[in-house]
Amino acid sequence: MTSNPNHQGLLERIRTRKARIGVIGLGYVGLPLAVEFARQGFDVSGFDVDEFKTGEINAGRSYIPDVSQAELSDAVKAGRLRGTTRMADLASMDVIDICVPTPLRKTKDPDLSYVVRAVEAVAATLKKGQLVILESTTYPGTTDEVVQPMLESRGMTADVDFFLAFSPERVDPGNQKFNTRNIPKVVGGVGVASSEAAALLYASTVDTVVQVSSTRVAEMVKLLENTFRAVNIGLVNELALMCHKMDIDVWEVIDAAKTKPFGFMPFYPGPGLGGHCIPIDPSYLSWKARQYGFECRFIELAGTINSAMPDYVVERVAEALNTVRKPINGSRVHLIGVAYKKDVGDMRESPALDVLELLSKRGARLSYSDPFVPQLVHGGHTLESIDLTSALTAKPDCAVICTDHTSFDYDALVSSDTLLVDTRNALRNRQSPRIFRL
Ligand SMILES: NC(=O)c1ccc[n+]([C@@H]2O[C@H](COP(=O)([O-])OP(=O)(O)OC[C@H]3O[C@@H](n4cnc5c(N)ncnc54)[C@H](O)[C@@H]3O)[C@@H](O)[C@H]2O)c1
Repeated sequence: MTSNPNHQGLLERIRTRKARIGVIGLGYVGLPLAVEFARQGFDVSGFDVDEFKTGEINAGRSYIPDVSQAELSDAVKAGRLRGTTRMADLASMDVIDICVPTPLRKTKDPDLSYVVRAVEAVAATLKKGQLVILESTTYPGTTDEVVQPMLESRGMTADVDFFLAFSPERVDPGNQKFNTRNIPKVVGGVGVASSEAAALLYASTVDTVVQVSSTRVAEMVKLLENTFRAVNIGLVNELALMCHKMDIDVWEVIDAAKTKPFGFMPFYPGPGLGGHCIPIDPSYLSWKARQYGFECRFIELAGTINSAMPDYVVERVAEALNTVRKPINGSRVHLIGVAYKKDVGDMRESPALDVLELLSKRGARLSYSDPFVPQLVHGGHTLESIDLTSALTAKPDCAVICTDHTSFDYDALVSSDTLLVDTRNALRNRQSPRIFRL
């Protein structure tokens, strides 16, 4: 038991749910977390630089599909959740959770500018007894090498005057089974007191908390998880290319292999990596490893294979059109699903954008259907989503399933006489000489 009054006071406020929680960054990660804290009875303020988002929250409207309208508006109506752009209000928070973006620069180096700006705002009003937690995915060392010195620059000491931890966010947008509440939360503090406070906070909100010995371990956990996915997707993408050459159905191979009850986990090929995590996070790790003179060969190789997948999809489109003696140039190609994954509208790093770009360079006339993405900007032009039935009525020369949203009518697709390139095995169990699987 600590004799530090800053620590004791904080633990007590968390235990009694009197801690006021500020969540900075109200996107895919921050909003579900803020709503969950509010649901558990905490008083929550959501901070964002985007006035639209804070306005929507205050109006009780959810703009993130995984956050239910009812839960959000209940929390707002009960006065337990509000959105604000006034960063000065961070002064009155007991806990501050930072969930801002961590993208890559054009050079593929980490872009910590959002984290730095958020931490500057926290540092400007830092008070004794506050707990600051970084949730944004980042390289090992960010919390103790970047965040801690910024917060200590005004004379307070981490783990004594204020508390600092890293806890990676593992939320999987669109996942019906796992959400903020039932995904175990990994927590590592800059010291024992910080770790204890952060673990207590999450224990009040999520089902399972896993404490690790440091912020660096917690940071590395998240990068291992996402690098594991990137590398295995690279392996299975390579296998797909190999199976095509050998005239073996890679999907059938994976389905049979996954019947092994141990030692195998299925990964699936596709048109390329998408989203804000898998294509980006391994680069955070390899960038940091290079500072230690270490080259991450698996990461580089998987990156090379995965980033070549859109080219491969276009080759399959060329192959499909070739069977009816048509070139890509001048053909009407319709993309089915453009979001980076099933049943979400998130376009970040979506491989469909690369497929569009490559097809356009080869002279294809393009259109798309995606109920989650009403518009997209491509080559300086805005494309509007067309509903799939109308798109099929217009008889495109070829349709490419880039994202297998549940709501698409795949039977109608197969009964149309369009050539179909299926990058997701959405047409499994359906046979037709017009189907070209990845
Ligand atoms: N989206 C996911 O599935 C996912 C899953 C796990 C981890 N992550 C990680 O979580 C972090 C956040 O990702 P996201 O998907 O929620 O991003 P997002 O873009 O959906 O949301 C980030 C929010 O932060 C706000 N913001 C940016 N700078 C700010 C500042 N200085 N002050 C206040 N608000 C600011 C933005 O306006 C935006 O609303 C990233 O590090 C990401 O890698 C994301």
